[in-house]
Amino acid sequence: MIIAIDGPAAAGKGTIALRLAEHYRLNHLDTGLLYRAIGRKMADAGLDLDDADLAGTVARALDPADLGHADLRGREAGELASRVAIHPPVRAALIDFQRDFAARPPGAVLDGRDIGTAICPGAEVKIFVTASPEVRARRRSDELIAKGREAAYERILAEIRERDARDSGRAAAPLQMAPDAALLDTSDLGIDEAFRAAMAIVEAKRR
Ligand code: DC
Repeated sequence: MIIAIDGPAAAGKGTIALRLAEHYRLNHLDTGLLYRAIGRKMADAGLDLDDADLAGTVARALDPADLGHADLRGREAGELASRVAIHPPVRAALIDFQRDFAARPPGAVLDGRDIGTAICPGAEVKIFVTASPEVRARRRSDELIAKGREAAYERILAEIRERDARDSGRAAAPLQMAPDAALLDTSDLGIDEAFRAAMAIVEAKRR
């Protein structure tokens, strides 16, 4: 079974994907990490993130060790990722790796922006996980506060809106809901409720 989970940043798709993978004993790939590693590698090397061909070269040379970089999870890496993700050569370089991962037994949960539309259009289950920008910004700022870090809600909200616009507005594999995906709006759901709702979608598909 292949489960494709797409949606904007901070909607809860990563946690849902991880829990579905654990529950159904499937492999899990956080595809955002691939784009984050490319953005981070280019920034570390002082390369121009807007150079599509250069970004493609970096993407083709991506090494599993690059995914172990210490600073891939934060907001800055997310921003770098979103910038390199607009380049068609970058997306093309990552297709085979993601499809091969999905094809490995016993199946996989992949989360990202274009899994149900471009990477695994034949996935048995597709879920589009979303939430309002305000809720997503509140979650991000609560996470930072819980870690004892400073969190400026208004700035985080502005960044989320900007990233949504870039991810949805790009020409190459933009963030959009596949016509055969189930919509899961987590705005009013806690993580356990969101996971149960996702599981109900999977179970309905399996029946
Ligand atoms: O899911 P994330 O926040 O780690 O993703 C970071 C950025 O990477 C996101 O803003 C857009 C890009 N991305 C993408 O274009 N396609 C994917 N399948 C996953 C991520």
